[in-house]
Amino acid sequence: MHIDADEVTVWWIDQLETRVDEARLGARERVRADSMPYSPGRREFVVGALLLRAAVARFSGRDAADVEIDRSCPDCTRWHGRPRVVGRVDIEVSVTHSDGLIGVAVGGVGTRLGLDVERVARVPDHPDAGLVGLTLDDAELATLGGRSVSSRQFATYWVRKEAVLKATGEGLRRPLTSLRVTAPDLPPVLLRAPGDLTARTTLVDLLGHESSSVAALAAVVPAGARPSPKIVQGDGRTLLE
Ligand SMILES: CC(C)(COP(=O)(O)OP(=O)(O)OC[C@H]1O[C@@H](n2cnc3c(N)ncnc32)[C@H](O)[C@@H]1OP(=O)(O)O)[C@@H](O)C(=O)NCCC(=O)NCCS
Repeated sequence: MHIDADEVTVWWIDQLETRVDEARLGARERVRADSMPYSPGRREFVVGALLLRAAVARFSGRDAADVEIDRSCPDCTRWHGRPRVVGRVDIEVSVTHSDGLIGVAVGGVGTRLGLDVERVARVPDHPDAGLVGLTLDDAELATLGGRSVSSRQFATYWVRKEAVLKATGEGLRRPLTSLRVTAPDLPPVLLRAPGDLTARTTLVDLLGHESSSVAALAAVVPAGARPSPKIVQGDGRTLLE
């Protein structure tokens, strides 16, 4: 697969279909993995970390062993923050996982990326008003007109918004209700957000209706730049073989 510098590539992998060699972990990655109990979450981290380094290696023409990722957290000493490629401010990345499905996004030229996935089965069917109220803003609630929201619809709202907040690096420090996106059956658009974020953000739904998961990618360009990156998806297994 050929990759252009102005493309964003999203690589997906299902950990059940993946055999990974933990010997390929870097020193910091190993410390983080060893701090986690043997669990699906630990394996998701390991697969995601190796897939991310392989994806950055493909993007930048380097060997995966030479790619270093920093996950320093601005709020604490744990190594669980937004991933950043050491020594390459021109490469932006994002990582997501849900119930064994792992995605990484890699792009260049200063486009901030946020990728988010949710297995629909993990979301409660017709989530209660409390959870919906923590996620949807007043206009989104008005659009529902009192109807309950299905798990797939709710997950779609969620991933679109979390993708944006991962692109800004704020994550759930900022309430999801501070954003407004289009209804799940409409093409994804960021309608309301702090500052000039709506003008700089491209939102894309990924994976498709037939998938058991929903996913979204937010790409946020610098002020004044062209907000239309080309997005390509690939099979992560081809990177880890
Ligand atoms: C970013 C965040 C929304 C991810 O939530 P999640 O349910 O774990 O969802 P995902 O699986 O989609 O994403 C996990 C990935 O997000 C990335 N990430 C972590 N913090 C991030 C941030 N601030 N911005 C963007 N991405 C972030 C990491 O790559 C992580 O995967 P990895 O640790 O395996 O590399 C959530 O961790 C968050 O809100 N973090 C910031 C606020 C916070 O709680 N900080 C901790 C204070 S000590």
